[in-house]
Amino acid sequence: MQVKNIEKWVLENWHMEATLTPLVGEFDLNFRVKIASGDYILKIMAADCTAEFMQMQIDILNHLRNKIDFIPHIIPTQNAQDYVKIDDRFLWMISAFDGKLYADCLAKPLSLVAQIGTKLAQLDIAMQGFHSPALSRSIKWDLSNASWIAESIQSLEPNKQARVTNIIEAYHQTNQILESLPKQAIHNDLNDYNILVLNNKNGQQDVSGYIDFGDLITAPKICNIAICAAYLMLDVDNPLAYLSQFVSAYHAHNPLSETEIKLIWRLALMRLAVSVTNSAMMKLEKPDDAYVSISENAAWRMIDEAQKYDDQFVSAKLLHACGFKINDNAERLGQWMVKNKFHPLFDMDLSEAPIFDFSVIGKDAPSNAKKPDMVEFQQIIDSAAKHGQPSLGCYAEPRIIYAGEAFFSGATQHQARDRRSVHIAIDIFLPAGTPLKAPYPATVHSASIQDTAFDYGGLVTLKHITDTGQTFYTLYGHLAWAEVKALKVGQVIKAGETFAKLGDYDENGTWPPHVHFQLGLTGWHGADWPGVVSPDDLDVWKTIYPDPAPLLNLAPGHATSSIRDRNVELTRRKAWSGANLSLTYDQPLLLQRGYQCQMYDEWGRTYLDAFNNVPHVGHAHPRLAKVAARQMQMLNTNTRYLHQAQSDYAEAMLAKMPAHIDTLFFVNSASEATELAMRMAREYSGAKNTIVCEAGYHGNTLTAIELSEYKFNGKGGKGAQDWVHVVPIPDGYRGEFKNDDPDAGAKYAKYTRAIIDELAAKGEKLAAFITESFPSVGGQIIPPQGYLKAVFEMTRQAGGIAIADEVQTGLGRLGDYFWGFEQQDAVPDMILLGKPIGNGHPIGILATTRQIADRFANGMEFFSTFGGSTLSCTIGLEVLKIIEEEKLQDNAKTIGTHILNALQKMQNHCPSIGDVRGLGLFIGVEMIAPDGSPCQARADYIANQMAQKRILIGTDGPHHNILKLRAPLVFSQQDADFLLLHIEKIFKQVENLNW
Ligand SMILES: Cc1ncc(COP(=O)(O)O)c(C=O)c1O
Repeated sequence: MQVKNIEKWVLENWHMEATLTPLVGEFDLNFRVKIASGDYILKIMAADCTAEFMQMQIDILNHLRNKIDFIPHIIPTQNAQDYVKIDDRFLWMISAFDGKLYADCLAKPLSLVAQIGTKLAQLDIAMQGFHSPALSRSIKWDLSNASWIAESIQSLEPNKQARVTNIIEAYHQTNQILESLPKQAIHNDLNDYNILVLNNKNGQQDVSGYIDFGDLITAPKICNIAICAAYLMLDVDNPLAYLSQFVSAYHAHNPLSETEIKLIWRLALMRLAVSVTNSAMMKLEKPDDAYVSISENAAWRMIDEAQKYDDQFVSAKLLHACGFKINDNAERLGQWMVKNKFHPLFDMDLSEAPIFDFSVIGKDAPSNAKKPDMVEFQQIIDSAAKHGQPSLGCYAEPRIIYAGEAFFSGATQHQARDRRSVHIAIDIFLPAGTPLKAPYPATVHSASIQDTAFDYGGLVTLKHITDTGQTFYTLYGHLAWAEVKALKVGQVIKAGETFAKLGDYDENGTWPPHVHFQLGLTGWHGADWPGVVSPDDLDVWKTIYPDPAPLLNLAPGHATSSIRDRNVELTRRKAWSGANLSLTYDQPLLLQRGYQCQMYDEWGRTYLDAFNNVPHVGHAHPRLAKVAARQMQMLNTNTRYLHQAQSDYAEAMLAKMPAHIDTLFFVNSASEATELAMRMAREYSGAKNTIVCEAGYHGNTLTAIELSEYKFNGKGGKGAQDWVHVVPIPDGYRGEFKNDDPDAGAKYAKYTRAIIDELAAKGEKLAAFITESFPSVGGQIIPPQGYLKAVFEMTRQAGGIAIADEVQTGLGRLGDYFWGFEQQDAVPDMILLGKPIGNGHPIGILATTRQIADRFANGMEFFSTFGGSTLSCTIGLEVLKIIEEEKLQDNAKTIGTHILNALQKMQNHCPSIGDVRGLGLFIGVEMIAPDGSPCQARADYIANQMAQKRILIGTDGPHHNILKLRAPLVFSQQDADFLLLHIEKIFKQVENLNW
């Protein structure tokens, strides 16, 4: 069929002079019809299409037309006909939606998935009552009759057949239930190519249309839901989060029964099985037709991923998301347990036993968050109770001790990926060999040895039936092997009968001896109950594995962890804080611990910190914790007394500076150093005029704000004081003179010359020029060569002092240079330091020449109570030693270069990256709009998406469009690769968002 002919038919019948572009489709021919007034879709039905089927297509769209607005409507011909028949083919035209296919959206936020669920519910409601004789067709895509694939399984590659067979078996178990459900007309093919998505004004995505009613049939509506669900789960990081968001949104608008919800997972997998089987068959028939295998690879990936999930848990999660109880017996069993007395597991009363707090910041949490030390763990346990006396570990407790590979999910080896962290049992610590007794009459449900490190070791589950006929289960982990091996499944155990003993390290998975005692309301998991679960699913798990305290004759909640609640903390903070104390991220983080480049939230979720430059040598460095604690035990006083720590630190810091900088003043912060710098400059020069750099930032005090163009010309700023003179930021990417201009440095410096000349012409003098050596707040700018040297020289010649704010650039961050001014071959008269020099402890330093310091010594005492305290100097010195001994400057160079190179490669295929710049671990990525203008929305999106992946980066710059990476200097190659893996994916998403 020639496009020319079709265009002629369109002209004849619709009076449209149009260009046609073919679209994909399985059977019918579809064309996009473009005319001046808009776009339409022309559909040419397959040759075997009956009039009855054609009419059904028309009838359904007319049926829906006044009910919902997200389906196409029919464009009648000039003769007011819904369709025409030409050469035995039916032709008809429908409206086209703006937007792109959901399949093509790289960003698929959960909010969009919820909208898809809501709209599908609305569609299903609108479809009710629609009848057509053509509905009772038999088609291969009928999920209520999908067993046919069992006969076609040979079309699949042999190594893949078993996976599909398993899905078919699970599907067969649903047959009877499916048959009993009411039927209605359903769309039956709401796959990711039949959903259209449009960006709204806020940069968010909305569902604009559902298309293609060609597979319409009569079937239970749950089939419609499962089909859509199958495609929503393709190639997303957390398919279950997508599934439950979608199903719960649907349920909120068109309620589902428990029976229906329990079918969804199996039906969705069956749809994928139908899809891959169909693709395999069609490929044999039409090897060159790409459409037949359009979703095949993604479907296989999901089929593989699905093997990791327990289908009963998935159903539980969906039921929970829709507000159903997961276990009807839970309440009655709970009441029964509270009323009953049970035989003690160890013939001991546990009510007075010490309770550990192993939670993230609990008093008994390990000191090394990344690699917990089992010897320390044992010492904590030994110190809690007398030998032979029990101590308890809590239920629902988030613990960072679960650092082994087995607790991580997701493809990469990195700590910051998803991790099971919440202990869902009670631990009872007692010596190895202590006999263990059954709390209630039981039969052995399972007895096994799980012998990998950090697993259960000897493991027993018991099945119990209450005197009221309800069943429950108990699990005992970390047992000695001999007794476990002697148990037989089904063996009867009396209440109080010894059936096992606590195992030692070598038999219990390498833990300090204890029993992990878990209560299960279902026997779902056989022997393999998860004892530690993801915090994201904790609510669901708690309904399956409730608090076992009553079985230990303890009050419910007696040994349950209580942790900080993020929302409570948010409310508390709002109550006391000023409104301009801001929080980062759309969903603020409650961070509780750190170690090296990792931070941990209240649930033990790990974040990779690639943003915070204060923890220069890494979060919670043990050497700093040690020297700080020791100094606090000894003495912490001020500079009015002699202490060797002051000179040790001062000498070590000065040794890192140019020789003419020989005098130090200790203060508490960089803001205070800036403040002091201005006092000194004015004293030295007898002037007040100060030159500052555009977009510069030097602190939060009154004078520091008056020197910070970023602030005084930013939101809420009051503009420049008459003594403050601003020069342009020497930005070789966005500024007036570009990186490829060899004279850019000199040209930018001319702005300083002009100000000095102007002042001189007015007979005024200059006090200082202050700048960040590399404007960091201004967007990680490296000035063109020669710039800083020139402006510092000009300043000196004019009688002012040249001040280098090295807060963000100093201390080895740049890799090749210890200070930023070195890269510029520039010599400052004064250096201001803060933030990283104390690694989190507040220290500020002003370093200058003896001459300037002497001029300042005018008789008035200089004193800062805490500046140069014994503690500060001890910490500052240790930071310098760590940088040296751990070779962190070298690390900044190696890892920084690796990241910069990779980002520069990404820039080649991501037009929204305008510039990648940096040195060492001082890195900026400038995000731009298609017209090259700064694009804050893209930078914000990336930073927020990275936070979703638990990687912290920042945004900065005068237009807030620069991604800012300035990780602690201990950032490893593995950390860098994890960051790069995710940022690349997000850059690709951004290319797809047309903001
Ligand atoms: C370049 C620069 N100078 C000075 C300061 C002020 O430091 P502080 O807030 O520690 O006083 C900062 C803080 O962000 C800074 O980035």
